[in-house]
Amino acid sequence: MDVRVLYCSTTGSTKKIAGEIAKVLGVKAESVRGVKNFHPPELLVLGSGVYGGKTGKAMLSFISNLPPMDGKKVAVFDTSGEGAGKAAAEMKMLLKAKGVEIAGVFYCKGRSFFIFNRGHPSREEIFAARKFAADLCGKK
Ligand SMILES: Cc1cc2nc3c(=O)[nH]c(=O)nc-3n(C[C@H](O)[C@H](O)[C@H](O)COP(=O)(O)O)c2cc1C
Repeated sequence: MDVRVLYCSTTGSTKKIAGEIAKVLGVKAESVRGVKNFHPPELLVLGSGVYGGKTGKAMLSFISNLPPMDGKKVAVFDTSGEGAGKAAAEMKMLLKAKGVEIAGVFYCKGRSFFIFNRGHPSREEIFAARKFAADLCGKK
């Protein structure tokens, strides 16, 4: 399957989860900041940290410039201090407003300000992220 996993990560937790998801999907995760001349793949997975209650700016900009995604699958995930999925919810809302159907949503805690949430994403969260990816591509 034609797949891309793009992430917006400042301190590494989202990048880590993106890497786990990408591995299951058989691709390499890429920073959304380096994406140029984007052509929609069959499955697009977008992930961001939560910063001041919001999705990362680079991801917001990417989503606002997204070309038509007709017939494509898009899934979203985030990592955050609260683990409440605020960026995933925001990305989902923005994508839906563009007519994009959301294939899946995942969120978990990320290590926060280097001192909070030590040990996150945890082993269990990483397993859950892998399962999320496997479900997206129909792998058992
Ligand atoms: C500047 C800054 C602002 C943050 N604001 C929030 C926030 O509003 N809510 C929250 O749950 N976590 C917040 N966090 C924690 C991050 O969402 C969390 O550490 C996340 O895993 C960061 O992802 P990253 O390591 O991929 O950058 C903030 C972290 C930073 C550095």
